[in-house]
Amino acid sequence: MLARDWYYNDRRHVGLDFSAEAQVATYDRRQGDHPDRAQKTLKSLGAKPGWTVADIGCGTGLMACEAAAMDMSVHAIDISPAMLSMAEQRARDLGVSLITQSAGFLSFTFEPNSFDLVISEYALHHLPDFWKAVALARVFNALKPGGMLFLRDVVFACKPDGIERTVEQWSDFLLKNHGYSRDEFAMHVRDEHSTFGWVIEGLLKEGGFVVEAADYTAPVYGAYRARKPASNGEGK
Ligand SMILES: C[S@@+](CC[C@H](N)C(=O)[O-])C[C@H]1O[C@@H](n2cnc3c(N)ncnc32)[C@H](O)[C@@H]1O
Repeated sequence: MLARDWYYNDRRHVGLDFSAEAQVATYDRRQGDHPDRAQKTLKSLGAKPGWTVADIGCGTGLMACEAAAMDMSVHAIDISPAMLSMAEQRARDLGVSLITQSAGFLSFTFEPNSFDLVISEYALHHLPDFWKAVALARVFNALKPGGMLFLRDVVFACKPDGIERTVEQWSDFLLKNHGYSRDEFAMHVRDEHSTFGWVIEGLLKEGGFVVEAADYTAPVYGAYRARKPASNGEGK
């Protein structure tokens, strides 16, 4: 797309500032994530050696490095140079290589129809819904026919009249299990753009994807397997 004065600046951090060294340094500990989970996810997606994969909003590169360790060609994409250098360090430690790109959903460069799998975990919520749709259109173009998007994010699996209960449940969960402060939690809900599960499903379907699975884990986590139809109109 041509650069326009109205085009969203997706290199600007919204909410938590993941360009800050302190935020990056504590990220893995607070998430409590583990390579086993990434491996399990990749296996459940049927990911294979030789696949070309993009991880958009890759953060410290845990998922990207596990995919690279399984002999996939991995593009690790993030707007935060500090996150990308952490991902590169992790790759060096593991003896794998990543193709890194300092860019976001709306600015990453790609060859159309080139990825077997695009993964994005806990990153799409940085965009308002209008721009989420544009981002998903770009991902759709980047995927090979029959390729898959695996999207995991903070999404509210409730109706608008249920947000009070759901959001407060999430606060309890986040503060107890992940060491985030009430201020950080409140900033996410107020300033970032986590949306409803039914909005995400609608965006995926309108974007041409076939939603093969939509799994919600209380209080606010959603995971989607969404397929770009193969040229015959079917998934691969
Ligand atoms: C909560 S972290 C998730 C990191 C990793 N995917 C994970 O699951 O651990 C969000 C990441 O998205 C990145 N990010 C924020 N806005 C973005 C955008 N518009 N495009 C791509 N990445 C973005 C941040 O720099 C940060 O590394």
